Amino acid sequence: MVQWKGGVGKSTLAVHIAVALGAVLIDLEPWGGATAWWGGTHANELWQAPGPAPVLRALERGKAPRPRQGASGRPQLVPSHEQLLALTDGVAGGVAAWAWSPEGLPTLMVPTSAGPRPLSEALRVAIRAWADEWGTHVVVDTPAGFGPLADGGIAAADVVVLPVTPDQWSVPALRKFMRAYGPRIRHGLVIPNRVRSRAEDDAWAEVMTSEGVIEPPFVLGPPIQESEVLHSTRRPLTAGPSPGKARATALEQIAAAAQRALELSEE
Ligand SMILES: Nc1ncnc2c1ncn2[C@@H]1O[C@H](COP(=O)(O)OP(=O)(O)O)[C@@H](O)[C@H]1O
Ligand SMILES: [Mg+2]
Repeated sequence: MVQWKGGVGKSTLAVHIAVALGAVLIDLEPWGGATAWWGGTHANELWQAPGPAPVLRALERGKAPRPRQGASGRPQLVPSHEQLLALTDGVAGGVAAWAWSPEGLPTLMVPTSAGPRPLSEALRVAIRAWADEWGTHVVVDTPAGFGPLADGGIAAADVVVLPVTPDQWSVPALRKFMRAYGPRIRHGLVIPNRVRSRAEDDAWAEVMTSEGVIEPPFVLGPPIQESEVLHSTRRPLTAGPSPGKARATALEQIAAAAQRALELSEE
């Protein structure tokens, strides 16, 4: 799940797509949006657990982290951790260090079982190895913006899922992303999210489907409607008693998006 723009539904959809696929969810968002949602009132016990962060510990050991088992409609989770903040604030806080790359660029290095590696490269290799070790699909939630956490997730992915809200802020960010990353990714699935039945949203839908906007390796996926239940729920829609109509509709739309991602990953 990637988008430079925040607030487009990456974390919301990551949790639900992970459930739909029976996947392990890796939360790379430093403030842990998906982890907060997953853990509810206990989320901070995960986020502020004694370090190192599960992801960083696993990189250092060269072994997959043990996912938390998700009770009642939650996916298995490798939680975020407050130490991940140090990887985005430029300080690195003793869990990583800056070094000059051979191209002369400052690069964030982390300890791995094979020695210090650039963070994004370490994640690229490790996430694929962990998926093999777990024998499951993996969904990675990433922070908005540009940085080594998102870059590592992008490089590891069979399919980069890009939620996009139909508005003047989200669509341009998507277009720039497609341009920058097109040559480097296997498949990109653009998911219009928070779509309302309004003329304005129809106009954006027209933009997205017009020629030359979404081109290979990106494809346009099924949309997900603006959903009051999805917005207001305090836990995944898959948790709790059997769903009513509004919840079932949102879950069906998310399942369709998950299915499309799965098909692309197998191409
Ligand atoms: N389909 C949707 N319908 C209604 N609200 C949504 C939908 N998808 C996401 N949201 C809401 O949008 C906000 C941002 O979602 P979030 O998943 O945190 O975005 P991101 O991870 O991209 O920053 C949240 O308040 C969430 O409840
Ligand atoms: Mg998020």
